[in-house]
Amino acid sequence: MKNIYSKISGIGKCIPTKRVTNDDLAKFLSTSDEWIKQRTGIEQRYWVENNESTSDLAFVASQEAISKAGLAKNDIEMIIFATLSPDHFFPGTACFLQEKLGIPGIAALDVRQQCTGFLYGMSIADLYIRQGIYKNILVVGAEVHSKGLDKTDRGRDVTVLFGDGAGAVVLSRTEVNDPKRDSHIYSTHLHADGTYAKELWVPAPGMANGSELITQAEVIDGAQYPKMNGRQVFTHAVRSMCDVIMEGLKHSNLTIEEVDFFAFHQANLRINEKVASLLKIPEKKVFNTIQKYGNTTAATIPIGLYDALSEHRLTPGMLVASAAFGSGFTWASSIFRY
Ligand code: ACO
Repeated sequence: MKNIYSKISGIGKCIPTKRVTNDDLAKFLSTSDEWIKQRTGIEQRYWVENNESTSDLAFVASQEAISKAGLAKNDIEMIIFATLSPDHFFPGTACFLQEKLGIPGIAALDVRQQCTGFLYGMSIADLYIRQGIYKNILVVGAEVHSKGLDKTDRGRDVTVLFGDGAGAVVLSRTEVNDPKRDSHIYSTHLHADGTYAKELWVPAPGMANGSELITQAEVIDGAQYPKMNGRQVFTHAVRSMCDVIMEGLKHSNLTIEEVDFFAFHQANLRINEKVASLLKIPEKKVFNTIQKYGNTTAATIPIGLYDALSEHRLTPGMLVASAAFGSGFTWASSIFRY
């Protein structure tokens, strides 16, 4: 099993059709294109318009990823689904996706690590493959935020940030003879600190919410919408992303200069600019998509990889460092050769 690794063999994405610009938001929120762009870099995002669910978007992205991997759906042996906007409380959205794909019987697992969820999913898939248990695993990140945002001024700090979308990859077993050339995942590194769980969260409905899932008064107060301490998130995100990238590189005796391409989570353009400046990463190596899509949480990294590939910014053999930070707080990195 010495030379057995996993690699990304196919990538797919699905972006809903309704484009929502900052000016569109300013029609119903006290905000402006200037405020949003200057604070976050976001220019537009896409929201579902035909009642699509998270698993609907994931289905389209997954089909493309499977086909780009040169596989048939029956080659997939496990589905790992990262989302913070599940179709339902239960069962997990991986089961709904599995039903849509028509591949009953295989393992279907939900990951609830928010913006970091995709990298957590990649890590689980990587280990199953390296252990020789499965050969092809579908890892999906998908979100429908637009149905769960507070579209009144009360929620404007959060509502302007998020977009809908899905990205999927197939991780496949591969043999690595020359790590400097062959496509493979070197390692993944996962972290969390629940001390900060309530700095970015949805208070209700939930089983920790007193004697009821949610009360009428709480609904009126908007407890069902995301709450965020933006400054805390910003500071922790910058520090944790820098640390976890360096942890990943050190693990495989790689240097930051050797990295060809940085695939960061897209929470805020300013976070990524700060990380790049602290780690002295040249601007041209960082691929940002937040301008176009806003923050699509678990879907962000696979969507970014997809676009980078389409634009020939990501090419075979490149060394990639991917990192994310999100609610939990959670943070993670993955170092891989594409
Ligand atoms: N439009 C206009 N004004 C706004 C908006 C808005 N959408 N939202 C807040 N404001 C106002 C505030 O009410 C405040 O007004 P006041 O000074 O009169 O009180 C003013 O703008 C400044 O608000 P702050 O919250 O202090 O603004 P800040 O400079 O911290 O920027 C932001 C807010 C952009 C959210 C920033 O804190 C941030 O980016 N934090 C990181 C959080 C993040 O990216 N989260 C994404 C989800 S988590 C993840 O993916 C990791």
